[in-house]
Amino acid sequence: MKHLSLVGLFTIGLFSLNAQDAKIIQLNEHSKVRGVTVMEAFQQRQTIREYDSTPLSMQDLSDVLWAANGINRPNGKKTAPSAMNSQDVGIYVCLSDGAYLYDAVTNSLKQVTSQDIRSMMGRQAGTSVYLLLVSDLSNYRNYNPSNTEQNKHLAEMSCLDAGIVSQNISVCCAGLGLATWPRAGMDQSGLRTALKLKDSQIIWLNHPVGYPKK
Ligand SMILES: Cc1cc2nc3c(=O)[nH]c(=O)nc-3n(C[C@H](O)[C@H](O)[C@H](O)COP(=O)(O)O)c2cc1C
Repeated sequence: MKHLSLVGLFTIGLFSLNAQDAKIIQLNEHSKVRGVTVMEAFQQRQTIREYDSTPLSMQDLSDVLWAANGINRPNGKKTAPSAMNSQDVGIYVCLSDGAYLYDAVTNSLKQVTSQDIRSMMGRQAGTSVYLLLVSDLSNYRNYNPSNTEQNKHLAEMSCLDAGIVSQNISVCCAGLGLATWPRAGMDQSGLRTALKLKDSQIIWLNHPVGYPKK
């Protein structure tokens, strides 16, 4: 089994990336058959705060990301609905060698920083992978940075969109026997700086993903 700890090289002390240095991790095709029934997954859905130290496998990560917000139809739409089909929720996959943005079209991860930002995610869960959900209001066709009232409404929509992606992660993890824990408490300003987020981007939640402690 290929584990993520083997995927990347550590780049100690180098916290910014040139475009040509950005690493790409190709994900596996998602499984269409694994897991328990949908109803059993809902039966199992729970927040798990104690994790085994086994690194998450590439297949498990690939399946969770596809379930979270992967493309499930030829028209490019996704497993999670989004208000006005804005597809505003980005998933940053935070590993020891940096943070990567999930690209559902190419089914790959593109490194956006080589900084290990997992310590900013709130209480450490003892797992190797954290997923960070960030909405970008500029994905909405009627986004206007100077229209405060409109942006308040779009921010509410984006919060709902992120919540749905979060629940996809939780139900998928339950169905595959994985552990996860949705959290809103984290170092927002540290993460904004590390990920060079735009004003139009809002950090909503993070999810450690791993294996339940035996
Ligand atoms: C939007 C949201 C934010 C949350 N933020 C945190 C958090 O910051 N810290 C934490 O320990 N748990 C957080 N949780 C997890 C809840 O505490 C947990 O879902 C709740 O206790 C119910 O437990 P259950 O998920 O096992 O049903 C959050 C859950 C949601 C849905």
